[in-house]
Amino acid sequence: MPTATIGTDLSVAETYLRRGQLVGLPTETVYGLAGNALDPLAVARIFKTKERPAFDPLIMHLPSLEAAEIYVLNIPDLARKLAASYWPGPLTMVFKRRSLVPDLVTSGLDTVAIRVPRHPLALALLERLDFPLAAPSANPFGYISPTRPEHVRQQLGEKIPYILDGGPCTIGLESSIISFASAEPVLLRKGGLAIEDIFATLGTTIKVNTRSSSNPIAPGMLVSHYAPRTPLSLLSKEDLATSLVHENKIKPGKIAHLVFGGDREFRDDDRVFDLSPTADLTEAASNLFATLRQLDELDCQEIRTALLPEIGLGRAINDRLRRAAANVQ
Ligand code: TXA
Ligand code: MG
Repeated sequence: MPTATIGTDLSVAETYLRRGQLVGLPTETVYGLAGNALDPLAVARIFKTKERPAFDPLIMHLPSLEAAEIYVLNIPDLARKLAASYWPGPLTMVFKRRSLVPDLVTSGLDTVAIRVPRHPLALALLERLDFPLAAPSANPFGYISPTRPEHVRQQLGEKIPYILDGGPCTIGLESSIISFASAEPVLLRKGGLAIEDIFATLGTTIKVNTRSSSNPIAPGMLVSHYAPRTPLSLLSKEDLATSLVHENKIKPGKIAHLVFGGDREFRDDDRVFDLSPTADLTEAASNLFATLRQLDELDCQEIRTALLPEIGLGRAINDRLRRAAANVQ
């Protein structure tokens, strides 16, 4: 297949999807690799294109809570409360499913993950369709999620015909995932909706289980995930500051540094990337994945960084940094 076209034509995207083909889907979190969730062949194509293991279930995207009702057994009141505040938005909720949902979408689980994205193009597309879109992030399994249409084309462009161009993703981190599969809700993935906001809306805290195990419920829970190919090391803030001076001023080497609210003196250094010069966590989130890709392309030996403040979106950013660092032996 020739390289994917990047465009804004919803009817072209719709035509491919109706034929069982895949389309790059802009959302406010990250770009998705979308196919008809009710067509097992299209869903199989998603797994093949992403080289994703079949034990890893997909999120079904729908235009509204009402549209979701026919695919799930029961939506608890707490979930309705969250939907009222955050759908459309960067929140995925897991419910017991009906048999209408193909097994391939859920990897055989008796639950299904549902999300109503906020991006206007994604919503407009979903409203035109009479089927949900299964869409994982549009990256090869384990690599950094794409936040621009060009990222999708670079990695999957030979394998799909069309990428809907919705510009850069405004949030830049995957959706937060809450499971309502059992009586107690559980947060499975920290993401674009801060847990402080979730707790405030619910008026209570909920269990958080984003740690990996040998058999994770969500592979985003795997210790090593979202990783650049260049080894990434997490340093203390102090050690990062020392490394910046040593590796970039005293003895310029093949080390790249990822900083946050950093010193002006390194601003023109092409091996120092600042996620947000003004130390704004929302800006840092939106820059994180594109910056990790840029750093990966520098051909450095190592990327060094430090954790950000563990509040708001900083928690999800730190979660991704820890997993990205986990492939360093
Ligand atoms: O922001 C997002 O959520 C993006 C955009 C494209 O919507 N999608 C995304 O999809 O990040 P993906 O496939 O990369 O991550 C979905 C995560 C996986 O870790 C998967 O294991 C989990 O959701 N998941 C899907 N269905 C599940 C289920 N029934 N129970 C528990 N986890 C589930
Ligand atoms: Mg993913």
